[in-house]
Amino acid sequence: MTRFILTLSLVVSIFSSFACVQKGGTGPGANTGDTIKVGVYGDLTGATSSFGQSTKNGVELAVDEINAAGGVNGKKIVIVSEDDQGRPEQAKTVVSKLISQDKVEALLGEVASTNSLAAAPVAQEAKIPMITPSSTNPKVTEVGDYISRVCFIDPFQGAVMAKFAGNTLKAKTAAIFGDVNSDYSKGLTQFFKEEFTKLGGKIVAEEAYTQNDPDFKGQLTKIRDLKPDVIYIPGYYSQVGIIAKQARELGMNMPLLGGDGWDSPELWKLGGDALKNAYISNHYSADNPAPEIQNFVKAYKAKFNVVPDSLAALAYDATKVLADAIKRAGGTESAKLKDAINATKDFAGVTGKITLDGKRNAVKPAVVLELVPAESKFTFKETIAPEGSAPATAAPAANAPAAANTTAANSNTNK
Ligand code: PHE
Repeated sequence: MTRFILTLSLVVSIFSSFACVQKGGTGPGANTGDTIKVGVYGDLTGATSSFGQSTKNGVELAVDEINAAGGVNGKKIVIVSEDDQGRPEQAKTVVSKLISQDKVEALLGEVASTNSLAAAPVAQEAKIPMITPSSTNPKVTEVGDYISRVCFIDPFQGAVMAKFAGNTLKAKTAAIFGDVNSDYSKGLTQFFKEEFTKLGGKIVAEEAYTQNDPDFKGQLTKIRDLKPDVIYIPGYYSQVGIIAKQARELGMNMPLLGGDGWDSPELWKLGGDALKNAYISNHYSADNPAPEIQNFVKAYKAKFNVVPDSLAALAYDATKVLADAIKRAGGTESAKLKDAINATKDFAGVTGKITLDGKRNAVKPAVVLELVPAESKFTFKETIAPEGSAPATAAPAANAPAAANTTAANSNTNK
C-alpha cells in the first residue's frame, strides 16, 4: 500500500511538474497555451460594490471586443475574476490566489486605493504586471515597476477641485470632511488643502469620519458653525449620499464638492435632492459627444442596460491598454510585458489620451461635473488640464469660440 502511494505521488508530481511547464513556461507569465489569462479583482459585494461591478463590466466589454477581433497575437483573453468584498486583506488574498493558483499573466484592479495598496506588493513580488484602472492615490504605483495605472493621480485631482472652488465658485473659505481610514481620502484632503491655500483660500475646518459611522451630524454641526463657503468631501458614495442628506437637514445649503469616489448609480438613492448644488471631479463625461465616447456608451448600454460610469470607462481603457502592450511585447513574458505597459504612449482611450509618465501614472485632464439629482445624472461643467499642458479653461458660454474650451492633451473635451 505504501509503495502504491509512493508510486502514485511520484506519478502525480511528474505530471504536475509537466503541467507546470505547459502552463507556466520558463518564467512568470511565459505562456505557451492558446489563451491569455487575466485576473480581475475588486469589490463585487460590500459597501461600494458598484465600483467592482462596473469595473468587471468594463473589462468584459473590452475583452469581448478584443476576442471578437481575433484576440491578441492570435490568442483569446480569458478573465478570471475574484471578489475581495472591498477589504484590503481580502484583496491581498485573492491576488495571491490569482497568481499562484490561476497563473494569471496580468492583473486588473483594484478601485479603492487602500485595496490596491494592499495587493500591489504581492503582484510586484511575483513580477506579474498589475494595472489599476482607477486607484488615484500616488503611493499605489510607488510600490514598484510592475504596478501602473491608466488614471490621473490625486495631487492633480485635489487641485482640480480646489481651483474649481476658488476660481469658478469664488469660494474664500472651505471645510474638509474626509474618511480617516482611506488612503484616497487622506491624500485628497492634503492635496485640496495645499492648492486651495495657495490660491488664497482658507481651510476653516477639517473633520473626519469612518465608514462605520452611523451618523455624521456631530461633525457636520461643527462645520456649520464655521460657515464655510464650500465643503469638500473626498469620500465614497456609500457615505457621501448620507452626509449630503444630513448636511441639508442641518440647514447647510452651500456647495458640496467631491471627487471620483462619488461616482455610482447608487449615489442618487442615498442622497436624493440633497445632492443639488454639488460638483465632483471625474475621469470622463458620458455626455461628451466625441464619437469614441459615444460608441463606447452605446456598446456598454447595449450589453449592460445602464450608462457606463467612470469606473467602467477606465476598466475598459485599462484592458485595451493591456492588450496593446501584450501585442507590442510579443507575448506575456512578464519583464517584457511590464516594459511595454510602462511605455504606453498616446493610447486613444475613452477617458482621454493615455501616456504613462516615468512613475507609471497617466497624465490626463479631469472633468468637473455638476450633480443633477432630478435626472440622476452628472452633467459636464468644465475640463481642467494637467499642469504643463494648455491652461485650465472654464466651460464657455454657448456663443463663445470653440477654441476657448480646448486643452492640449485632450480628445475628451466636452462642449
Ligand atoms: N480613485 C478612487 C480611489 O483611489 C477610486 C475610484 C475611481 C472611485 C473612480 C470611483 C471612481 O480610491
